[in-house]
Amino acid sequence: MRVLLVGSGGREAALAWAVAKSPTLDRLFVAPGNPGTALFGENVSIAAEDIPGLVRWAKTQKIDLVIPGPEAPLALGLTDALTEAGVACFGPCRAAARLETSKQFTKEICAEAGIPTAQAVSFSSTAAAQDYLRSKKAPIVVKADGLAGGKGVVVATEMAEATAAIEAMLTSRIHGDAGASVLIEEYLSGQEISLFAICDGETAVFCGAAQDHKRVGEGDTGPNTGGMGAIAPHPLATASVIDAAMARIIHPALAAMVRRGMPFRGFLFAGLMLTETGPHLIEFNVRFGDPECETLLPLLRTDILPVLADAAAGKLDRNVTLSWHDGASATVILAAKGYPEHYPRNVPINLGSSETLPGVTVFHAGTRKDEDGLVSSGGRVLAVNAVGDSLKSAVERAYAAVDSIDFPDGFCRRDIGAKALLTRV
Ligand code: AMP
Ligand code: GLY
Repeated sequence: MRVLLVGSGGREAALAWAVAKSPTLDRLFVAPGNPGTALFGENVSIAAEDIPGLVRWAKTQKIDLVIPGPEAPLALGLTDALTEAGVACFGPCRAAARLETSKQFTKEICAEAGIPTAQAVSFSSTAAAQDYLRSKKAPIVVKADGLAGGKGVVVATEMAEATAAIEAMLTSRIHGDAGASVLIEEYLSGQEISLFAICDGETAVFCGAAQDHKRVGEGDTGPNTGGMGAIAPHPLATASVIDAAMARIIHPALAAMVRRGMPFRGFLFAGLMLTETGPHLIEFNVRFGDPECETLLPLLRTDILPVLADAAAGKLDRNVTLSWHDGASATVILAAKGYPEHYPRNVPINLGSSETLPGVTVFHAGTRKDEDGLVSSGGRVLAVNAVGDSLKSAVERAYAAVDSIDFPDGFCRRDIGAKALLTRV
């Protein structure tokens, strides 16, 4: 199989690493890729958002399967354009990508399919939103409807915060059109888990659950980021919780999308809150998570490439189950100091002996090679993963690897997995 992977982050480095192990792979190309993906395939200099460029290249190179990593090309219609050109793509069409790009759309699907989620009401008028808010109590959640670079959600612990958020989103339009309508949503409490399924339009196969650490600071403080580290499996994500999430959230969502005439193909990412009354959906994303992908793929025993190809062809065997290694996995993100705000680029990185340590894989995220060697080129720079017999050993191994990397302008959270290690089931 000739495969084109789209994207350039840690998630794509992990996908490249996993796909490259497949006996069914002939050639792997990554557009645009990074120095880490170049270890497993050939980087092609086409931007992930250049839809016509990607389609043209995939056609002339006789690509059998395109695997998009991030959501941006999906929201721009990459799958639709490839399908029209006769190239198979493991990703949702633009209409189905609305499960990530519109929170309002997701709420409609949830209502239609009876999916447990936080109760929410949508507003496009500031006065009506503020009126409704007066009938509610904190904590309460205010969300911009569209994509707002991870900054569109305010979990307000006091009513004044919620009022200000509505004003900022609806009146001042701090998120532009993404905030042209807002959701005011019930606050859910519990542990958050990211659950993944490989979907072919009708059938879904469970593809792992992990816990991300979204805030930049230890103890879950500071601004939200793309994710500062992840662990799997989480002690609360038991087989019965996973079965419940598949039965009450993933399968009903797929059925609802079929009814709407936009079957969902690709990785479906359910952000779950594990509440006292079972898993509730916080949000869907239409891609693998990052750093969840770097955390789950090292535990996967099954060759993922034929499964993705079958799913892209709408032929996923509903009896297929993925097989996993025993033990646990932990990923620590090494980020550039200042992330997620302003940070320097082009800072030299020396991986030292990190990659030779037991159980360790260092996935490149925001890196670049120049004449002098490896330098940083983004906020999240490296995803340092380790597997071990237990969560404790995976975490210790990941931090041993982090400590052997020389990147003085970098930082990481020192408490990845700490909450899970304290969790009593
Ligand atoms: P999102 O951008 O939708 O992933 O939301 C960002 C974060 O806000 C989530 O990871 C949760 O921690 C939090 N959040 C979102 N919705 C809720 C909710 N209804 N109740 C509690 N926390 C929430
Ligand atoms: N790590 C969360 C995400 O990929 O959105």
